[in-house]
Amino acid sequence: MTTSPLPIETARAEDWDKINRFLGQLFHHGIDSETHEIERAIFEPERTLLVRDGTELVATAGAFTRELGVPGGSVPAAHVTLVGVAPTHRRRGLLTAMMHRQLRQIHDARREPIAVLWASEGRIYPRFGYGLAAQRVLVSGETTELRLPAPAPDEGRLRLGSPADRQPDLARVYDRARADRPGWSARDERWWRYVLGDPESQRGGATERRVVLHEGPDGIDGYGLFRTKGEWDGGGPRGTTTVDEVVATSAAGYRAIWRMLLSIDLTRQLSWARAAVDEPLLRLVNEPRRLNARMVDALWVRVVDVPAALAARRYAADVDVTIEVTDDLLKENTGRWRLHGGPAEASCTPASGPADLACDVRSLGELFLGGTGLTALADAGRVRELRPGALAAAGPAFTWHRAASAMEIF
Ligand SMILES: CC(C)(COP(=O)(O)OP(=O)(O)OC[C@H]1O[C@@H](n2cnc3c(N)ncnc32)[C@H](O)[C@@H]1OP(=O)(O)O)[C@@H](O)C(=O)NCCC(=O)NCCS
Repeated sequence: MTTSPLPIETARAEDWDKINRFLGQLFHHGIDSETHEIERAIFEPERTLLVRDGTELVATAGAFTRELGVPGGSVPAAHVTLVGVAPTHRRRGLLTAMMHRQLRQIHDARREPIAVLWASEGRIYPRFGYGLAAQRVLVSGETTELRLPAPAPDEGRLRLGSPADRQPDLARVYDRARADRPGWSARDERWWRYVLGDPESQRGGATERRVVLHEGPDGIDGYGLFRTKGEWDGGGPRGTTTVDEVVATSAAGYRAIWRMLLSIDLTRQLSWARAAVDEPLLRLVNEPRRLNARMVDALWVRVVDVPAALAARRYAADVDVTIEVTDDLLKENTGRWRLHGGPAEASCTPASGPADLACDVRSLGELFLGGTGLTALADAGRVRELRPGALAAAGPAFTWHRAASAMEIF
């Protein structure tokens, strides 16, 4: 275990103001009082590590207690956040010391078999065993170039509303959808307030956030959160519709919501930063190239407790494989593990026989949400096939019928 050059403390509730101002400086943005209070409500001081140099705060790292959707279920996952080191104290090992302390605490508490985070830069976390588990697609299109199929006669109806007023409806749709969405975090009341928080300082000149709800034969089965921003040039209106999330449990609802979002009068452009890799919109529009889709990293997963984590998800096909795992940071994970599982159940126990595959713990993180191909990792030199045929046999089991995706940055 790395020792910190300065002592690491646990935060107290009253440290919030200092921590948030500190992080605002590191991420180069101001902190308005509304955002400050919204974020205070989700702050978990007892899970936040601090380093001070004298009286000055110089490093922080925290975690939220939430569940994460995984293939076939939902597991407790430390949602790592609030990570920062002062520019005066960078590259002296403070982040390393905090990450080691945090992962050790999560492991030893034995409540959360995985940790998950968004990275400000992709190269920061692999050294701590985090693997890229879910990607997202950035979409920005000229809406005049995009058409969706004509509506079916029974496509249901749409209503506009205020997100805060309709939060119970949104939560119902989200929870139903989340049951089958690896990568989506559970949202309790506090988290809904965070997600729906809409401080004026963060609107970039656009309207407040609105919601469009779809009502199908069984009630509300879809919603879209969006805002619009007006713009005019010599050629006329060129407004933008910015989408935050579209969640629907019916195909009719999904189509109807997008038909509206792509055709709001006086808008001509669409911007959406969190489409899934298998987003149906990419299959619905008549000219997908015009969505200018670009894939970037989203969720990074760290398998903290190998046997508990591998047994906590389900597998797309039956699998019986022994994996030789190395973990330089949490040594308990190093060893041979026999994974036996399928769509309905899974177990992972210490293995006595020879291994079929070998990889480091980071690769297990990449595989964990079903969004990364085992063979692709092998081709990248990160998984080794020790028994010929093991990759082809185990590969399909690690996938899932929906791509891993991520909903909100935390
Ligand atoms: C990212 C950050 C927390 C790193 O903290 P730090 O205390 O300087 O990190 P460490 O000294 O423990 O560095 C550990 C290793 O990671 C490397 N590293 C750390 N941050 C890096 C970065 N942003 N880019 C590339 N390498 C980085 C270091 O070079 C070091 O490598 P080495 O051991 O081979 O020399 C700090 O730079 C920071 O606060 N950045 C701005 C806010 C931010 O991006 N936070 C992360 C939010 S997800």
